[in-house]
Amino acid sequence: MRTSGFWLLPVILAVSAVAGAADFVGPESCKGCHPAAYTAWQQSKHARALDSLSDTQKKDARCLSCHAPDQSQGVANVSCETCHGGGQNYAPAYVMKDPELARLVGLVDPSEKQCRTCHDASSPSLRPFNFVESLKAIDHWSAERAKKSARAETTSPPPAKK
Ligand code: HEC
Ligand code: HEC
Ligand code: HEC
Ligand code: HEC
Repeated sequence: MRTSGFWLLPVILAVSAVAGAADFVGPESCKGCHPAAYTAWQQSKHARALDSLSDTQKKDARCLSCHAPDQSQGVANVSCETCHGGGQNYAPAYVMKDPELARLVGLVDPSEKQCRTCHDASSPSLRPFNFVESLKAIDHWSAERAKKSARAETTSPPPAKK
């Protein structure tokens, strides 16, 4: 049986209004349910963006604004929630299973515009930012999607919905 999470929406919105929109749970929380995405991310430069800074630079707000923008949330580097939005309200399983609800409570589909807030003229790249190429370089979704379709094939179809 599949229950919609929509009856909970007023509760969630009330809670999120109190808690603030951007409460972060940290990449370790995502890892439990998205191990493939986590592994791929961990091998990317985003997961080590803070390591590029010297100890002095690690205290420089200018550098942190791109290399660790969510430090105030207790999350280092460029992490899952830097791109996907703070997860406190969408990370619970019953919300994640409902893509519409997840987006209503903060899950973000990262856009090119978002990348360009950091990959701009002031970042020290030799080549201009190419969205399509850069996306390939941070692929952590192909493995997730392969797993998902494998799951869909091996599990028996759910009972027909009315
Ligand atoms: C309790 C398990 C759980 C946790 C924790 C969790 N997720 Fe999910 N997530 C899911 C499930 C289940 C789906 C539905 C898709 C699927 O079956 O793979 C999903 C879907 C997604 C999607 C795709 C949404 C769509 O519909 O296209 C993204 C992006 C995502 N999660 C990101 C995150 C991030 C970032 C975190 C950590 C802040 C996180 N998730 C934490 C279980 C979880
Ligand atoms: C919050 C800032 C921020 C956002 C948003 C961001 N990045 Fe990055 N990105 C960085 C930083 C900082 C580095 C360099 C990390 C290091 O090596 O210290 C980086 C590195 C990379 C690299 C590796 C470059 C190399 O030389 O190998 C790729 C590829 C990349 N980002 C792609 C993307 C894409 C695609 C998006 C959007 C979906 C994105 N980034 C969004 C900050 C960001
Ligand atoms: C506007 C966002 C932004 C700011 C601000 C910023 N960086 Fe970066 N930085 C990036 C991005 C994006 C990259 C990756 C560029 C690429 O390879 O495409 C990067 C890469 C680097 C690298 C190279 C890492 C490597 O693997 O080669 C170093 C070192 C670095 N930044 C240091 C700094 C320092 C020090 C500061 C503060 C004075 C700073 N950055 C401020 C976005 C930024
Ligand atoms: C630099 C930004 C960035 C970071 C960091 C990042 N993601 Fe993503 N993520 C994306 C983008 C962009 C897509 C969609 C790519 C596409 O559809 O072509 C995506 C897709 C996904 C998907 C697949 C959604 C689907 O449709 O099946 C999941 C799950 C996911 N991310 C989870 C995570 C988790 C977990 C982390 C941290 C371990 C993370 N992401 C870190 C940008 C990011």
